[in-house]
Amino acid sequence: MGHQTVIVLDFGGQYNQLIARRVRECGVYCEVRSYTTPLAELKAMAPIGIIFTGGPNSVYLDGAPCVDSEVFTWGVPILGICYGCQLMAHVLGGRVVPAQDDSAREYGKTMTRFDTGCKLFQSLPDTGVTWMSHGDYMEKAPEGFALTARSEACPNAAIADEKRGFYGVQFHPEVNHTSRGTDMIRNFLFQVCRAAGDWTMEDYKRSAVKSLRERIGEGRVLLALSGGVDSSVAAALLAEAVGEQLTCVFVDHGLMRKNEGDEVEAAFSKWAMNFVRVDAGERFLTRLAGVAEPERKRKIIGEEFIRVFEDEARKIGAVDYLAQGTIYPDVIESGAGAAAVIKSHHNVGGLPDCVEFKEIVEPLRLLFKDEVRQLGRELGLPEYLVTRQPFPGPGLAIRVIGDITKDKLDMLREADAIFREEMERAGEEKRLSQFFAALTNMRSVGVMGDGRTYDYAIALRAVTTDDFMTADWARIPYELLDRVSVRIVNEVPGINRVLYDVTSKPPATVEFE
Ligand code: XMP
Repeated sequence: MGHQTVIVLDFGGQYNQLIARRVRECGVYCEVRSYTTPLAELKAMAPIGIIFTGGPNSVYLDGAPCVDSEVFTWGVPILGICYGCQLMAHVLGGRVVPAQDDSAREYGKTMTRFDTGCKLFQSLPDTGVTWMSHGDYMEKAPEGFALTARSEACPNAAIADEKRGFYGVQFHPEVNHTSRGTDMIRNFLFQVCRAAGDWTMEDYKRSAVKSLRERIGEGRVLLALSGGVDSSVAAALLAEAVGEQLTCVFVDHGLMRKNEGDEVEAAFSKWAMNFVRVDAGERFLTRLAGVAEPERKRKIIGEEFIRVFEDEARKIGAVDYLAQGTIYPDVIESGAGAAAVIKSHHNVGGLPDCVEFKEIVEPLRLLFKDEVRQLGRELGLPEYLVTRQPFPGPGLAIRVIGDITKDKLDMLREADAIFREEMERAGEEKRLSQFFAALTNMRSVGVMGDGRTYDYAIALRAVTTDDFMTADWARIPYELLDRVSVRIVNEVPGINRVLYDVTSKPPATVEFE
C-alpha cells in the first residue's frame, strides 16, 4: 500500500466521516470500518492506531455495539471518542452509568480544563471549549487510567493510560466547535501513534494509476462524464492510467451553464483517450416542450439521458469496465460503516443496466470530496473544474421555473454568467457554497428608456451550507447585488427585474424546483 493506515472503527456516530477527514487532513491515511468487521480483517490492515467513534447507544445495555477485548492486546494505540471512550472504559473494567441528573448530561459547548502533560493535549492551552454530546457518564475510569481533562459537570472528560497508548475523550475533537480539536487528533497521530504523515496526493495518484493499470490490463473502460467534479476527476485519473482504452461519453443535454460544455471538452483534450460529446440539446428540448411540472421535468431528463447514453454505448459495443465517480461519503453512507443512512441521491442514475460490462471500477471510492479536488489538481485539471459548485443533474431545466424554451435558457445562461462573474470578482465564491440565477415565470411591468416593458424577473440565489441538507441564505453586499442587477437588466434582453432570495433551507430548498 505504501502508506500507514489508521482505522476509524465506526459505532454509528453522526460525526464519523468528520473524524476520518480530520485524520487525512493531517496527512495520515485512514479507513472507516464497521465495529462488526472481523478482528482478523482489521489486524491484516496493520493499523498504526485505531479510533473508536461515538455512537447513539449506551455501553451497559444488552446488545450495545461492542468490540472484542483482544484489540486491546495488539499493542496498537487507541483513541476512544464519546461512545468509543465509554466502551473502552467499560471493556477495561471502568464503570459507565446513565447521568443521574441534567447537570452531568452534557450537550453543546463546554468549558474544559486539560492536563497538558498528557500527550493528547501536549502543547495546547490548558483550558478550552469542547463539544459534548453525551447522556452517559463515566463514573470510574479503568485501572491504570489517569483523568486528563475535566469540565464542570464531568470530572472525567478525558482519560489516558499512556503506557499502553489508550486515550479516551467524552467530547468530540473532530467538530469545529471544539477549539484545537484537530490538534488533539494530530497529537494522537504523531505523538502517540508516531505517524509518518505519508499520505500525499502525489503518492496516491502514482499508486492509483499503477493499480488501475494492473487491474484493467488491456481492457476497455466506459465512463459517463457529467462535467461535475467527481466524474471529471475519475475521467482524468483513468485517462492517465489507460489512455485510449477509455471512452468518456459526455451527454450535453443543452441544459448546461454558459460555455460549460466547451470547457469540459477542452479540459480533456490533453489526454489521448476517446472523448465523445453528444450534442443532444434539441432532443431534450423537444421532449421537454410544454412541460412545467418539476418532477416530470426531472423524470424526462433522467430517462432521456439514459436513452442517449444507451445509443452511444451501443455504438461502442461491449466494454470490460464501467467506471463511476463514486466517492467515499457515498460508500460510507451506503452502509460500509455502522451509520447506514440512506440518502436519496437525485442523480441521473441507472446507467449500469443499459450497458454490457464485466465489472465496475470506482477509482475515487476511498476519497473525500476535498481529496478528489486535490487529485484533480494533481492530474492537471483546470481550477474551474475542480472547484466547481454542485450542479444538479437536470441542469438549468430546474432553474427555469415552468415550461422551458431555448430563449428562456439563453436568457438564464447570460444572467447566471453575469452573476457568477461578479461574485467571483468580489471574492465571494470562496466564502459561499453555491450561487446561481433562476428564471422565474413571472413577468412584470417596467420602464426602460421611455418605453414600457413587460419582461421576466430573474431570481438570484446564494447559500452557505456544510452539507446541503440545510442551508442559510448568504448575506452578500448590497453594492454587489446592485452591480449584478444593473448589469443583468442592461445586458440581458427580456429581463427587467432582479430579485434576491432571502429564504433558508428549510423551509425552502436550494434549487427552485
Ligand atoms: P435542494 O434543492 O434539494 O438541493 O435543496 C440540495 C443540493 O443538491 C443539488 N441538487 C441536485 N443534484 N441532481 C443532482 O446531482 C439533482 O437532481 C439535484 N437537485 C438538487 C442542488 O444543486 C444543491 O446543491
